[in-house]
Parts: sequence; C-alpha cells; structure tokens
Amino acid sequence: MDIMIDSFKGLGGVFKGYKESKAARRRVEDWLEEQILETRKGNIHPPEGTALYEFAHWEDYLGNPMDSRNCAIDLMNTFRPLIAINRFVAFGLLAMHDNPITREKIKSEPDYAYKFSQEVRRFYPFVPFLPGKAKVDIDFQGVTIPAGHGLAIDVYGSMHDETLWENPNEFRPERFEDWDGSPFDLIPQGGGDYWTNHRCAGEWITVIIMEETMKYFAEKVTYDVPEQDLTVDLNSIPGYVKSGFIIKNVQEVVDRK
Ligand code: HEM
Repeated sequence: MDIMIDSFKGLGGVFKGYKESKAARRRVEDWLEEQILETRKGNIHPPEGTALYEFAHWEDYLGNPMDSRNCAIDLMNTFRPLIAINRFVAFGLLAMHDNPITREKIKSEPDYAYKFSQEVRRFYPFVPFLPGKAKVDIDFQGVTIPAGHGLAIDVYGSMHDETLWENPNEFRPERFEDWDGSPFDLIPQGGGDYWTNHRCAGEWITVIIMEETMKYFAEKVTYDVPEQDLTVDLNSIPGYVKSGFIIKNVQEVVDRK
C-alpha cells in the first residue's frame, strides 16, 4: 500500500517509481473488485455495515449496482489516503526524537499536540510541489500566464518562505499559537478553499489522527530508537524518513493513578 503513496512521483509523469506505484494500485484494485464480485455472488459474507458490504450492495436510484471497477476504486478511497498519514507520523516521531522537550509539552500542555502536528506538516517535505494548468489568462505580479500554461506551486518552498514564516527552518510548534488560519500559507495538502478549490478533503482528519497518534507515542508508550538512517532527503518525491523510523523495546506506560 505504501508504494502507492509514491505515485506523487508521477507529478508530471516523468519520475522513476511512478510505474511501480500504478502497478501496485492496479493489483489492489483487482483484489478489491474480486471481493466485491464474490460478495455479490454470495460466496463471501462481510457483515452488514462494513465498507465491503455497503459498497458491494449499493444501488443507484434505478436499482442498478455500481460498476464493479468503480466500486473497487471507491472502496479503496476509504482507506488509501489514511495510510499516507504514516509518513507524517514518521516525521512526527523524528521531530520528537530531535526535540525531546516537545514530548514533555505534548504530555503536559492541552493544545500542544495540535500545534506540534501542524508544525510537522509545515516543516517536513512530504508533497514538494503540485502541478496545475492555467484555465484562463492570469496576471500574476506583473507576469501574464496564458491559458493552458503548465504551473507548479512550490509547496515546500512556501512553507519555508521567510516572508510568510518567522525563522522557517526552525522546528517551533509554538508558532501556531497565534496563526490566523490562512488558506494560503500552511499548504502541505494543497491550498485555497475546501469547498471551491482542490484542497485535500482529508486534511481535518489527517490533523486529528496526527494529534492522537503523537499523544499516544508521547504518553502511552516508551521505546528505544536504534541506530538507523534518519536522513530526510529533500530530493525525494514524496519526502520520507530514510529508515522509516524504526522503534524497538516498546513498553506500555502503566498508569498508577
Ligand atoms: C498524509 C496525508 C495526506 C496528504 C499529504 C494529502 C495530500 C493531498 C493533496 C496534495 C491533494 C491535492 C490538492 C490539490 O490538488 O490542490 C489532496 C487531495 C485530496 N485528498 Fe488528500 N492528502 C492526505 C490525506 C488524505 C486523507 C486522509 C483523505 C481522506 C480520508 C484525503 C482525501 C483527499 C481528496 C478527496 C482529495 C481531492 C480533493 C479535490 O480534488 O477536491 N486525503 N490530498
């Protein structure tokens, strides 16, 4: 599943790895389509209320089932993007490892996990840029961009721009204490408006999952971080922690209250 996330390599369709991502995606779609067809035939029996049951039995207003391929694709859309969040989690654990004070603050300050998660999404390079095409002629800062012209927004650069962020290369969750919520500066999952533009529909849930996961790692478990390659390569698309962030000797924290 993780290899599919690498389809961001396909931005522009020229990067190595895009084909593997596409093939991996096709394999999962094939398998899910088979599950849907087998459910419809009554050969497998997922419980009512599960995503597989509901998608397999969904009907349009004329009583027709959904095309099995589209059904498989939509079923996968319910969990595929959630798995992408593991990359932010690895960045979050790296940030906690490099800045140990943040672990203590997550434990003791009520809103800190939120600020920490936002700073992880700002600071680390996941989606480096996003491509688009001008729909109409655009005048931008004295330059005319003709309709049809290809454009790329520098996502990582915008989140490390000194005119938008004070000391952008410092990891400092506190900056989100007085952030005004602008739709144009914190753009790790696209910019603009959720309703009228393409901004990621899963951004809220990403932040919530990040917050809860970071609280879990700060409060509920202790672990060791063995020797590994924690490099974050800015040339990689999408970005990731080289070793994936391996932990060992994980122990549950016993609450003695
Ligand atoms: C690490 C987590 C994620 C990252 C980095 C990410 C990134 C993105 C990006 C860059 C876009 C395109 C924005 C644009 O075209 O301007 C996008 C769109 C989208 N994302 Fe996410 N996403 C993540 C998680 C999720 C989750 C968890 C969901 C759903 C549960 C989700 C659902 C969507 C949808 C439906 C769109 C299309 C929105 C539209 O075209 O209107 N994403 N995401």
